[in-house]
Amino acid sequence: MSESAATVNQARLLEMMTAFKATYLLRAAIRLRVFDALASSEPADPDDVAAILRTNPRGTRILLRALAAMELLRMEGEKFSLAEGAGELLVSTSPQYCGGIIDVAASDCEWDALRDLADVVRHGGTLLDENAESPGFPYWVDFATHLTFATRPGAQFVADTTLSWAKGRETLDVLDVGCGHGLFGFAIAEGAPRARVTCLDWPNVLDVARRHADRAGVGDRVRYLPGDAFTVDLGGSYDVIVLGNFLFQFSFRRCIELVRRLAGHLKPGGRVVVAGFTTGDRPPAQDHHAHLLNLLMLAWTSQGELHSPDMYRKILASGGLSRVEVTERPGLPFRFVTGELP
Ligand SMILES: C[S@@+](CC[C@H](N)C(=O)[O-])C[C@H]1O[C@@H](n2cnc3c(N)ncnc32)[C@H](O)[C@@H]1O
Repeated sequence: MSESAATVNQARLLEMMTAFKATYLLRAAIRLRVFDALASSEPADPDDVAAILRTNPRGTRILLRALAAMELLRMEGEKFSLAEGAGELLVSTSPQYCGGIIDVAASDCEWDALRDLADVVRHGGTLLDENAESPGFPYWVDFATHLTFATRPGAQFVADTTLSWAKGRETLDVLDVGCGHGLFGFAIAEGAPRARVTCLDWPNVLDVARRHADRAGVGDRVRYLPGDAFTVDLGGSYDVIVLGNFLFQFSFRRCIELVRRLAGHLKPGGRVVVAGFTTGDRPPAQDHHAHLLNLLMLAWTSQGELHSPDMYRKILASGGLSRVEVTERPGLPFRFVTGELP
């Protein structure tokens, strides 16, 4: 019997049937800055909030009540205030604000991809003319701008393990393939003054990475390689090549092709680090974000899909890498697969 003991019942189906409404409610509240409007004031009634937001009073009342129903707001009588935690996560002046990534995850770009999922499944791949395989796909610019909950801790884990592995190495030249925000490489650079990072991605995404590098204070040790990872001149050889949430955009065969190419640009004893979501080694219910992401890859690419840790072992081994290891860090949804040139 599977480890998941959940039974199909009406309550679970109802939750899935209505989940998109909660997504769009949250998105609207973020876009309207409802939480900002309630941040500094005493509990407010809908008319006050509507006056601050310049929205329609009736629309505002219905929205606020729905937010209270989702327990993002408290409602006492007809007055509304922030629920516990909302001030930290949903008010735009907070350092932990996550409205940006909420807007990315609830974007029309994701919705458009999944709206016709049944047709996508019939077809077996993307139906969109512009998709994640299109150079400079605009979604990746937004994704690079607003970090996910797992980005910083994931980048820190890669940095910590890379720095302890690299202790004996004189140089620490890092290539971050499909770098997006670039934080995987920048966290290494922050921890080691000798580290130099090369960020590879489409030009529009590299503009965002450049801003993150400057913010992290490592911009003077970063260079940028705009272009397609499969064909661009890789500009030298590297101690470490990082692939963060990159390979699931491609088929197993294409991953092997890419890792072989990258392995040819490793210095002796150099290392490849694959970081990101995987499927296949745990019951699906324990990896449900990964399986939902897999739907997006189905709808956004021709052949991409999440690979299992075992497939990553094979991909790295076929690139001539040895000592292939899979690790995870409790609390992080990612797996980390490393392999080294002999
Ligand atoms: C899911 S994001 C990963 C970003 C970051 N590495 C992370 O782990 O969060 C995938 C990135 O790969 C880039 N990308 C996709 N196909 C590419 C290709 N053929 N060549 C270079 N970059 C590509 C996208 O622009 C995007 O920034």
